[in-house]
Amino acid sequence: MSRRRFYLAAAVCLFFSPVRPDEDCPPSCMCARDSGTVTCRDGGESEVPAGIPDWTSTLILRGNNISTLPPAVFSANGTELGLTTLSLSYNGIQAIEPYAFLGLPRLHLLDLSHNRLVSVSPRAFHGLLQLRSLYLNCSLAPAGAAQLSDALGAQSLYSLHRLELAGNRLTSIPLLALDSYNLHTLVLTNNSIETVGEENVSGLYLQSRMRVYLSLNPFRCTCELEAFYYWLKNSSQCPDASRLLCSEPESKRGVPLEKLRGEDLDCTNENLEAVSYVFLGIVLALIGVVFLMVLYLNREGIKRWLNNIREACRDQMEVYHYRYEQDSDPRLANVAV
Ligand SMILES: *[C@@H]1O[C@H](CO)[C@@H](O)[C@H](O)[C@H]1NC(C)=O
Ligand SMILES: *[C@@H]1O[C@H](CO)[C@@H](O)[C@H](O)[C@H]1NC(C)=O
Ligand SMILES: *[C@@H]1O[C@H](CO)[C@@H](O)[C@H](O)[C@H]1NC(C)=O
Ligand SMILES: *[C@@H]1O[C@H](CO)[C@@H](O)[C@H](O)[C@H]1NC(C)=O
Ligand SMILES: *[C@@H]1O[C@H](CO)[C@@H](O)[C@H](O)[C@H]1NC(C)=O
Ligand SMILES: *[C@@H]1O[C@H](CO)[C@@H](O)[C@H](O)[C@H]1NC(C)=O
Repeated sequence: MSRRRFYLAAAVCLFFSPVRPDEDCPPSCMCARDSGTVTCRDGGESEVPAGIPDWTSTLILRGNNISTLPPAVFSANGTELGLTTLSLSYNGIQAIEPYAFLGLPRLHLLDLSHNRLVSVSPRAFHGLLQLRSLYLNCSLAPAGAAQLSDALGAQSLYSLHRLELAGNRLTSIPLLALDSYNLHTLVLTNNSIETVGEENVSGLYLQSRMRVYLSLNPFRCTCELEAFYYWLKNSSQCPDASRLLCSEPESKRGVPLEKLRGEDLDCTNENLEAVSYVFLGIVLALIGVVFLMVLYLNREGIKRWLNNIREACRDQMEVYHYRYEQDSDPRLANVAV
């Protein structure tokens, strides 16, 4: 009897809750209370909408025109929101100010992809104690990229497991110095990493739990890359290792790094070559010096020799002169006739 009444009440609730107009949904957004999702898309808004309902667990703010995330922008009242997923992609965000995400202690996933970050405060991610995934693909201008390691190293992202930094024109592997990290996955595909030096490779060995994705980078396959090559071969930390390709030198363009042989990247070969060029240079220089010495020591003899040549020339000229005069005489005679 009471159970039936309970079912009835539940049915009434189910029936009425979606129908009831959601008086607390911000005007430019769509609210789906049953899934806890609020979506504000392509509105051209220049600010984060006010009055995000407190039942929201997923907030999708995408395709707006938000240039700055000011402090505590998601908890303007000083109240905490129970958000677990926050997507802020394609908003043209340029600056993240200190404590911007304050009041979101349960946030698990933050997607900041496809923005234009120029300025990221060292305290930008403060308070995100449970953040596990941070997406920043195609989002960092060079200035923003330079500030990233400070922002991520500020002792706040204790739970960060996955960091995606694809498509940011990064030239080196960031964050290797931060060994207090719990990162399991670092995605660096589609960047501008040409080489990974030996110190960076030892950083990679130290973070043995971390998986690093590196395809679509323009690797320069010279002997500088040797340590990295062996890391690829025997650490199994790079899940997409088979898709890493050389883009330089010309002769190795498009060749998978894994298909290279150890000798191709052996620095001693290259050093030998360099040494032989240096040696050749020294020999040529020595020959030059010897030649100049011979000239110098022999300068008296050379002077004499030059004089002799001059004499010889003069004699020759005189002979010509004499002949010319002899030849011209008959012509003069003809003219006279
Ligand atoms: C601020 O708090 C009031 C009442 O507590 C609430 O109605 C309002 O939606 C909140 N605004 C924001 C931006 O959270
Ligand atoms: C974005 O906002 C700026 C001013 O903050 C404005 O100049 C620009 O036209 C806006 N762009 C769009 C696409 O709304
Ligand atoms: C980039 O970010 C999106 C989330 O916006 C994610 O789904 C995707 O896997 C990321 N990585 C790459 C390489 O695009
Ligand atoms: C690589 O990143 C650039 C942005 O830096 C993006 O425009 C391009 O689509 C990306 N390419 C791939 C294959 O993901
Ligand atoms: C990685 O390499 C860069 C440049 O070669 C260097 O500045 C940086 O300190 C290295 N990082 C680590 C952790 O070794
Ligand atoms: C990786 O392989 C190279 C060559 O086979 C070897 O010299 C090196 O000691 C190996 N490193 C590790 C950490 O296993």
